[in-house]
Amino acid sequence: MGSEVLEQFSREFFGLRRSDPVFSTGGEPELKRRVYLDTTATALMPRVVWRGLERYLEAACANSHTHAHRAGRDTTVAIEQSRDAIGRLVGYDANTDVVLFTSNGATGSVNFLARALFPPELRSVVKRFADAPPAPFLDTFKKALGAEGARAVDELLARPLVVTTRMEHHSNLLPWIEAVGRRNLRVVGVKPDGTLDFDHYRQILKEEGERVRLVAVAGVSNVTGIVNPVHEMAKLAHAAGAEILVDGAQWVPHGRVNMHPADRDARIDYLVMSGHKMYAPGSRGALVGCLETLADRRCVSDVGGGMVEFVSIEEYRIKDDVPSREEAGTPNIPGSIAMGLVAEALLQIGMDKLAEHEHELTRQLVSQLKELPGITVAGSTDLARVPRAGVVSFSVAGVHHGLVAAYLNDFHNIAVRNGCFCAQPYIQTLLGFDAARTEQCAEEHAIGDKRNVPGMVRASLGVYSTEEDIGALIDALRELLAKRDQVIDLYSVDADGTWSRKDGAESPQTFSVSQVVAEWMKSSN
Ligand SMILES: Cc1ncc(COP(=O)(O)O)c(C=O)c1O
Repeated sequence: MGSEVLEQFSREFFGLRRSDPVFSTGGEPELKRRVYLDTTATALMPRVVWRGLERYLEAACANSHTHAHRAGRDTTVAIEQSRDAIGRLVGYDANTDVVLFTSNGATGSVNFLARALFPPELRSVVKRFADAPPAPFLDTFKKALGAEGARAVDELLARPLVVTTRMEHHSNLLPWIEAVGRRNLRVVGVKPDGTLDFDHYRQILKEEGERVRLVAVAGVSNVTGIVNPVHEMAKLAHAAGAEILVDGAQWVPHGRVNMHPADRDARIDYLVMSGHKMYAPGSRGALVGCLETLADRRCVSDVGGGMVEFVSIEEYRIKDDVPSREEAGTPNIPGSIAMGLVAEALLQIGMDKLAEHEHELTRQLVSQLKELPGITVAGSTDLARVPRAGVVSFSVAGVHHGLVAAYLNDFHNIAVRNGCFCAQPYIQTLLGFDAARTEQCAEEHAIGDKRNVPGMVRASLGVYSTEEDIGALIDALRELLAKRDQVIDLYSVDADGTWSRKDGAESPQTFSVSQVVAEWMKSSN
């Protein structure tokens, strides 16, 4: 049954069966089928989710957290069902883990966890006094905080370190630099084949031991699609007394995730994900993680309605239960329910089935790209040794990545992404930059000159991707390689790094807010 459900699900996505006008190198515009290869940035949306949202809006659209009327009750239940579906999708333990919704995708979730583990009001202490000789000021500060605050400071100073990797998306790097400062961050290197340097990881843990509070690592790279051995990493982290966060933004939608495998030491303590990367509209994020630790913190990023018991002008009492306490205000209800609907659908399909489909397409994409002369695929292409989820970044000899992306869009209606994909340190390594080249980049950025900005082209797959999509990309690249000089001659680049046609021709706009309303006005008259 899994395969039929998978097939039906993957066929029923918005925006799959459309054609748009494109330029042709022969002169006249023509219609070409849309090929979407930018799923890593945001996935297309399945119709089942839209149907679910329509049903919800029709039957129960209301604010949550009330039992006074049916719609409010149903909304509250739908949000809780969604939490549970998301948790089940990643193998949570409903007794020990909590599912928290956050705003702004995985970024919001990582930042939330960073605030929970390293409270903003104590961060300056970690940054200044970890590794520093005892200072009289610190004692005074601790006394002022009282017994509980002093304990928190001692705990932070005993384990001030975060270990992350050079492979991370900026969203799993910058929150940790902000939280503990560069001095307390250890960064696992990557090897020339794009994989994590596991020996370096071991060495860091051996050297730092119990001073490590958290290991923060991507389950799947958003640049190379390389799947990291996170359970192995978890075992080593736990042996050192640390916890582990896995950034599941690219892992959860493309593979089976089990936060609690049979070997308890291999468990994942915290997992973050992005709704819009797992086929749910909007930018809801979710953090699934150890309830005990989160219950112990008061990580109140926002205060207001919904998270308090009693309020007077003099005092207010914050609720004990973690989701309510941490989700002040009216939640993004459609976004949360959409994530729940997708999670439930993915559970029905079975993530192993879905991953199998994507692995086969990834194999085809990598092997066909490799065969094109002048194309260099980033990272190892030995998929048996280094498994990848459906993400492949590459360079085209003699053609800037920005121009490749513009050409694929303008002439072939193929959407790919180009640049550094919010993973600049990893891209710098993959491109073999030395310190001088990295410095040169920083200088070019500083003076606002992005014409020469380094980067790659990224093609990424989703459940709806097909062999025809890959074929279209390969044919288009073949054409680009054959007409390289002619294509280069058609385009120019601005200081902000935008590539556009010299003759000013642009692909037509296909959606406009005002046009939708104008058409509705016309039809209702
Ligand atoms: C691996 C990874 N982590 C985190 C993020 C951030 O996700 P969001 O933009 O949804 O917050 C991304 C986005 O591309 C990603 O690929």
